[in-house]
Amino acid sequence: MANAFELKQTEDGLGLFWREASQPMRPLIIDFHQGKAAYRAQHSSLKSEAIAKAVGVTGKFQPSVIDATAGLARDALVLAQFGCHVQLIERHPMVRELLADALQRAQLMSDNIGLAAQRMELLNQQHIADLDPDSCDVVYLDPMYPKTGKQKAQVKKDMQMFQQLVGQDEDADTLLQPALSVARYRVVVKRPASAPYLAGTEPNRQLKSKKHRFDIYINQGFNS
Ligand SMILES: C[S@@+](CC[C@H](N)C(=O)[O-])C[C@H]1O[C@@H](n2cnc3c(N)ncnc32)[C@H](O)[C@@H]1O
Repeated sequence: MANAFELKQTEDGLGLFWREASQPMRPLIIDFHQGKAAYRAQHSSLKSEAIAKAVGVTGKFQPSVIDATAGLARDALVLAQFGCHVQLIERHPMVRELLADALQRAQLMSDNIGLAAQRMELLNQQHIADLDPDSCDVVYLDPMYPKTGKQKAQVKKDMQMFQQLVGQDEDADTLLQPALSVARYRVVVKRPASAPYLAGTEPNRQLKSKKHRFDIYINQGFNS
């Protein structure tokens, strides 16, 4: 498995190649200007994006966010598009390289997505527990959660590759307590609708979107 994946420079950016894929696959390249993430970042509104509500973004207040499970940074891009400064933590070395490459390319552009990318920063730390208390307003967590058979069949090829690379995040429960110490105001955890609470801890509030649930753990109100 160690050599099943390889990173190589392509014309479109750094690409992740899956050597042991059962059928030929295009490399996975993070490109904030392409695909669903770009569409979502450009066309969503504060009202339509449950993640923005969960994090507490309003027209007047854009909390600083640490996305402590950055992955492909699709959620982070949405938050940055709404004006939040988003710092990213990602522990998988290949995903970190893909992210660094994508950010560098996007930050050169002066369109809305380029400006959003300029509000995003990949941190050197690889776990939320490595940060000081009160480092940001909100910590956002979206660890991998085991997929059911039905969902698995629907997962697109690039997501299959990503899931195969990073695995299941079986230690996800260890994220909640340090996240609560690092966030001044709240921790937001994205979960599949039927998943148990992270670390078995009941949130103060929940917001539901079509596919997900956002569990919100409040340290203090934004106005207190
Ligand atoms: C489901 S993905 C996140 C997807 C992301 N929200 C997006 O929009 O693309 C989870 C990511 O968190 C990373 N991760 C899991 N546990 C972590 C930890 N304790 N510290 C840092 N990164 C972690 C995994 O390597 C994986 O890339």
